[in-house]
Amino acid sequence: MRPESGEREDAARPDDAGARAGREARAAGADAGAHRSGAGCAAGRAGEPAPGSTPRPSGKPDAARGAQLYAANCASCHGATGAGDGPAAAALQPKPAHHDDGNYMNALSNDHLFQVIQQGGASVGKSPLMAPWGGVLSNDQIWDVIAYVRSLAKPAYTGSVP
Ligand code: HEC
Repeated sequence: MRPESGEREDAARPDDAGARAGREARAAGADAGAHRSGAGCAAGRAGEPAPGSTPRPSGKPDAARGAQLYAANCASCHGATGAGDGPAAAALQPKPAHHDDGNYMNALSNDHLFQVIQQGGASVGKSPLMAPWGGVLSNDQIWDVIAYVRSLAKPAYTGSVP
């Protein structure tokens, strides 16, 4: 046993963690500044739209229609089934959210999802690489996409849409 090698190993770990934390902080801070809440956008946190400010759908959101819109507009980054493995994902940092990750996605409110899809990642303290889709998708189409995104979660999303 050589003590120096043990020391070097110990010294390397905090450095690694520090560098990683620094990169994450920079990535988060670059687009959101001080208003970002570290825990992301669980209900009631920074980036959450004001209660009652999210437009309601005119009818029942339709996951099948949403699937087509998702394939056309979202799958290039998020992957066809929301696994975050679309062809464009490799070049992106941060990586596109994994919509099949129920542990992450199920904690996000419908209003938050509407906001991030309509107005983009930067509007909720996330990366601007997640572009605003409000000029492309109507409010009802955004709800259809949300219904589809909810269907991808494992473990399953048990709430309603919206
Ligand atoms: C150009 C690539 C790209 C496309 C296309 C794209 N996204 Fe994203 N999306 C991202 C990235 C990158 C993130 C991660 C942002 C972050 O973590 O800061 C993200 C994050 C998200 C999130 C998670 C937000 C959160 O609070 O964590 C949702 C929901 C989302 N996208 C929905 C969509 C939907 C729906 C579409 C299609 C209408 C779409 N995205 C199209 C790149 C993309």
